[in-house]
Amino acid sequence: MPERVCYTKASSFLTLVLISLLYTCSRSFTPTDNYLVNCGSSGNTLVGTRLFVGDANLTSKTLSAPKGIIANTTTNSVASFDSPSLYQTARIFTNPSSYSFQIQQQGRHFIRLHFYPFVYQNYDLSTAKFNVSTQDITLLASFDGKNISGPMLKEYLVNITRGSLTLSFVPFSNLAFVNAIEVVSVPDNLILDSAQTINPLSQYNGLSGQAFETVYRVNMGIPKVTPDNDTLWRTWVPDMGFLQNQDLTQWVSTDSKLHFVEGLATQESAPSIVYSTATELASSNTSTVGAKFNMTWQFDLQEGYTYMLRFHFCDIVSKSAGQLIFDVYVGPWAVLTDFELSSLTYNSLATPLFEDFILSAKDSTSKLSISIGPSKIVNVQPDGILNGLEIFKFDGISGTSTIVGHEGSRISLGAVLGIVGAGVILLVVIVVMLGAIRKRRLEKQRSSKIWTPFSVNGLTNSQSLTRSSNATTLTLGGQNGSLGYRFGFSVLLEATNHFDENWVIGVGGFGKVYKGTLRDGTRVAVKRGNTKSHQGINEFRTEIELLSRLRHRHLVSLVGYCDERNEMILVYEYMENGTLKSHLYGSGLPFLTWKQRLEICIGSARGLHYLHTGFAKAIIHRDVKSANILLDENLMAKVADFGLSKTGPELDQTHVSTAVKGSFGYLDPEYFRRQQLTEKSDVYSFGVVLLEVLCARPVIDPTLPKDMVNLAEWAMKYIRKRELIQIVDPKIAASIRPDSLRKFGETAEKCLADNGSERPNMGDVLWHLEYALQLQDVELDESGVNSIKLIAGASHELEPDLVPPPAESLDLDTEEEEDDAKLNDIPDVSMRRVFSQLIKHEGR
Ligand SMILES: *[C@@H]1O[C@H](CO)[C@@H](O)[C@H](O)[C@H]1NC(C)=O
Ligand SMILES: *[C@@H]1O[C@H](CO)[C@@H](O)[C@H](O)[C@H]1NC(C)=O
Ligand SMILES: *[C@@H]1O[C@H](CO)[C@@H](O)[C@H](O)[C@H]1NC(C)=O
Ligand SMILES: *[C@@H]1O[C@H](CO)[C@@H](O)[C@H](O)[C@H]1NC(C)=O
Ligand SMILES: *[C@@H]1O[C@H](CO)[C@@H](O)[C@H](O)[C@H]1NC(C)=O
Ligand SMILES: *[C@@H]1O[C@H](CO)[C@@H](O)[C@H](O)[C@H]1NC(C)=O
Ligand SMILES: *[C@@H]1O[C@H](CO)[C@@H](O)[C@H](O)[C@H]1NC(C)=O
Ligand SMILES: *[C@@H]1O[C@H](CO)[C@@H](O)[C@H](O)[C@H]1NC(C)=O
Repeated sequence: MPERVCYTKASSFLTLVLISLLYTCSRSFTPTDNYLVNCGSSGNTLVGTRLFVGDANLTSKTLSAPKGIIANTTTNSVASFDSPSLYQTARIFTNPSSYSFQIQQQGRHFIRLHFYPFVYQNYDLSTAKFNVSTQDITLLASFDGKNISGPMLKEYLVNITRGSLTLSFVPFSNLAFVNAIEVVSVPDNLILDSAQTINPLSQYNGLSGQAFETVYRVNMGIPKVTPDNDTLWRTWVPDMGFLQNQDLTQWVSTDSKLHFVEGLATQESAPSIVYSTATELASSNTSTVGAKFNMTWQFDLQEGYTYMLRFHFCDIVSKSAGQLIFDVYVGPWAVLTDFELSSLTYNSLATPLFEDFILSAKDSTSKLSISIGPSKIVNVQPDGILNGLEIFKFDGISGTSTIVGHEGSRISLGAVLGIVGAGVILLVVIVVMLGAIRKRRLEKQRSSKIWTPFSVNGLTNSQSLTRSSNATTLTLGGQNGSLGYRFGFSVLLEATNHFDENWVIGVGGFGKVYKGTLRDGTRVAVKRGNTKSHQGINEFRTEIELLSRLRHRHLVSLVGYCDERNEMILVYEYMENGTLKSHLYGSGLPFLTWKQRLEICIGSARGLHYLHTGFAKAIIHRDVKSANILLDENLMAKVADFGLSKTGPELDQTHVSTAVKGSFGYLDPEYFRRQQLTEKSDVYSFGVVLLEVLCARPVIDPTLPKDMVNLAEWAMKYIRKRELIQIVDPKIAASIRPDSLRKFGETAEKCLADNGSERPNMGDVLWHLEYALQLQDVELDESGVNSIKLIAGASHELEPDLVPPPAESLDLDTEEEEDDAKLNDIPDVSMRRVFSQLIKHEGR
């Protein structure tokens, strides 16, 4: 294992270096189709560095302009505009008229239309009213000249799948016009095919078939970026006008070089100037230090349309990876929780990336708030940044939405790649090879983050969308859109080899879990509920709704479900490395190092913390155990099996008891006493998992001497005697630093406190574990000491100083006796007897 990790790191680093090198060489994208037309002008006009051709005396084989009145206005009236020469002339059409562009490269194109209504002879362009459309879609419906005073730029991002583009201007009565037109190729990967939907969280596929209208394009942090300085000649306006609470924010920027990583954002996603500037929560300001607040931007939208939001991020503020963790909201919805940029960028800082979200028509409001706020994880320094934001409207466009900015543009300075030496070519080859490997990995990572994209029965969500030019409402995924993917039963039959018993990878309270492979090769874990009960379907669907909303790096994500033929089947992402339990004992797998174990504990603690705090109402797992903590191919921990049976006992009928869910050996004793479930029951069970991880033995082992049977009881004795080292897994005992062990032991002890109220919450547990990890690292890494101080300083409420409070558990021994007494109070039921009943039923 360690060798593999090393190799991975080395190769990522090499790739990073090479990719950075490559990007230094190839600066800009050269559009294959690049039509820049200054309408109504007879000569060519240089706007910035781009040459616009006049269409008055056009002789071109690839571009044909319609007949129309050639109009102009005075130089003075347009002098204050960004690109005056584009707006000084216009073409006026009194009949339906079309421009035709020959398209050399099919795919994504920007279509930009420039309008400025002036008066020319008898024509008052502000009285114009018209539609603009391509062969396939209406770009601009009912454009009304009255609505605009200054110059106006409309930008569309259209996938052209024909050999030519016809742009038609159709006047309502007898007046239409246009001042300038751009039709420019765009890198195909600018728009990905899928994005995350916001409410509910799910995946939307089929974006490559959509046309978009740019509504806002904002550079957080600094003033306007003009087309001259954008890799695709876009305009980015500053965020000042949208920011609601400016005094709570600060603008930050960096001069250092950005690290572009293949598979994430490219130079074309947004220019470097957008990524190297940001608006940051001003929580480092002395007056607001430690305070938690959001920064919010507000945008005017048209209700009833579907929007795509693209957030651009680049961590230019952190000194080291893993420090910047924050939440992102769209309207009232949290779209990214405990979002940690460095975890997506291989811990490299200053690495640009973007995240796309779809706001459905039913949720779009006339005022949309976008907020960045601090993570709810305690002890994380409140902070958060945003570098850029784009808001696009889907096709079905109506004319009167305002679009920000206006101007012309110019030609790419380095349209030509320049000198590409033989060495560079060699580099490219290496990069491409390494890149391919890396890309596959990144793609895996990305897709495990969100709903894995694939089609079911050849039908994706997108196909239930209306794609007519007037579609004002887009229903996501039809009637079942709110529930994520709905699989056909036959698809799952095929995927699991007809629920082959040899493919069973687990048996749980809910039913059996099968491994499966979908037609596109995606590996999944298919959990099939007991089909005997036909009553639970509604509850089942309620559960799916809940599960679909849970999205976190450290939770196993639900890929879809099947409720056909009264089946209750859940389809999860497949976790390559199986359960944590199997890596601890009993399976002969190579052992995990102490650091790996700590990292796994930290990951699962994060997942549980999210369940407890990520929603208005805490979600209690109820069955935290090492068999429910799964490991992906990188040994990253994800909590599985959450949420189920919280609302519907029907789902749980196969389980030992509907009153007591949970697994023997992990059960919170207080739960027995009070029959009341709280988050702290999960904390207790997690404490048992910690001991399991430390000692690498089953939580209940009936073959051992009586006082050793129950791990929690046995280990607690050693913790109290401060002799924990005696029971540590011998394979790792020598490598654990005493401080780290002590911290870990204390954490477990606190989790196992008899009274729930005395147990820490998961956030605190998380912090203590991170601390234990740092204590393990401390010797190796001088800077680790600093970061410990930093964290300890930030968390005064929890940890007054570095030295753990001495013997705070003095009174525990007496409590233990009390506890036993209380347990025996339950009529006729001693702890042991309950356990032996459970054992019989569960048969595990
Ligand atoms: C351009 O066209 C206008 C009218 O369409 C004509 O008067 C003018 O002579 C033409 N100029 C050139 C250079 O062809
Ligand atoms: C429009 O262009 C013509 C020819 O260049 C010029 O004579 C006229 O003054 C212009 N009109 C305005 C309003 O500037
Ligand atoms: C545009 O004008 C129409 C009527 O002419 C009006 O209903 C609409 O609200 C206006 N839109 C904007 C954005 O001003
Ligand atoms: C303009 O477009 C709208 C919506 O697509 C359509 O209803 C209307 O008939 C069109 N008007 C003209 C004059 O083509
Ligand atoms: C454009 O659309 C075609 C057909 O829908 C699709 O195959 C292609 O991938 C799309 N291209 C892009 C860049 O989205
Ligand atoms: C473009 O960026 C350069 C420096 O990067 C700056 O000097 C120049 O003013 C910028 N141009 C525009 C039009 O913003
Ligand atoms: C942050 O600090 C700057 C300079 O020290 C100050 O001008 C600003 O008002 C502070 N902002 C807040 C919110 O305290
Ligand atoms: C930030 O805004 C979101 C959404 O409105 C809200 O749920 C959250 O509580 C806010 N956070 C803070 C710290 O105000």
